[in-house]
Amino acid sequence: MKLHIALLPGDGIGPEIVGEAVKVLDAVAARYGHSFHYTPALVGASAIDATGDPYPEETHKICSEADAVLFGAIGDPKYDNNPQAKVRPEQGLLRMRKSLGLYANLRPIELFDTLADRSPLREEVVRGTDFICVRELTSGIYFGRPQGRDDDGNRAFDTCTYTRAEVERVVKLAFGLAMKRRKKLTVVDKANVLETSRLWRETAQQIGKEFPEVALEFMFVDNAAMQIIRQPSHFDVVVTENMFGDILTDEASVISGSLGMMPSASLGDKSALFEPIHGSYPQAAGRNIANPMATILSAAMLLEHFGLDREGKAIRQAVNDALEAGVVTEDLVKTGEAARSTTDVGAYICSRIA
Ligand code: IPM
Ligand code: MN
Repeated sequence: MKLHIALLPGDGIGPEIVGEAVKVLDAVAARYGHSFHYTPALVGASAIDATGDPYPEETHKICSEADAVLFGAIGDPKYDNNPQAKVRPEQGLLRMRKSLGLYANLRPIELFDTLADRSPLREEVVRGTDFICVRELTSGIYFGRPQGRDDDGNRAFDTCTYTRAEVERVVKLAFGLAMKRRKKLTVVDKANVLETSRLWRETAQQIGKEFPEVALEFMFVDNAAMQIIRQPSHFDVVVTENMFGDILTDEASVISGSLGMMPSASLGDKSALFEPIHGSYPQAAGRNIANPMATILSAAMLLEHFGLDREGKAIRQAVNDALEAGVVTEDLVKTGEAARSTTDVGAYICSRIA
């Protein structure tokens, strides 16, 4: 298969982890006879530095024309404690999601068996975890208007909005996923307080009629935050609005042993983007110590998106081999063992694929 992939390394550790994922994709291409072409583009703080814009027009063009986008991370500490900054790297990410129409962010929460003792949660709690969180990605409080300040600067406001159509498309996608899995869907909301949540509930109940085989349940977000770490094996597919999904998936990542293990896919009607859920980890930038596995597993999701299941599986198997052989970065190392570098981990995974 021939694939055109837009490469957006972004900031911090982005270039290093995307670099390893590309090596892994190349190993897959060589082994299975595919040809993957890459077009690099700027995004985030590095794009602001070069062009003044965190998501330049040129980058949008490259992403829209590609079959898929492989994205690293964005964010730079020079913006974090500067609420006055007019342009922020994160705006690039949000505009990219919105303008590519990436309304569904799929975040699988799985546990590699080898890592069951690495989670801060008890082994018997995390064993057998296998669910996927579908986070709505292009609406809600992240995008609602009005947003701003009163003239005197003493009152700030954000607005959470959802249209029925926005809820429908992402909930439908979640039902579709549930049909391919264990046929259970949990809609997470705050319908006891929020009108947007009541629209979510009403819409999910409606769409549920088209999927009678799927067991549909509703859960308030505060309770979900507890159940996810109390009994993660309860969940199969979770669907929720933008900010709830952002928060719950960082929380859920502790199950997997490290945020550095968590891949994601962001899907729209025309585009598909794959990225680790972690951030740009600026303290580690350029030091060859960051865990590339989340990005490598995101590349596996990319291949599976195009039906290359055998290839995706080969990557997962190779990651598992690295974990079992102890070829891991510092976030996953067992006490007393030496941490390996980003490039060591990438090279080992490539060698297992070859
Ligand atoms: C994520 C990140 C982003 C988000 C930030 C960087 C804007 O936390 O992808 O989860 O909140 O969506
Ligand atoms: Mn987040």
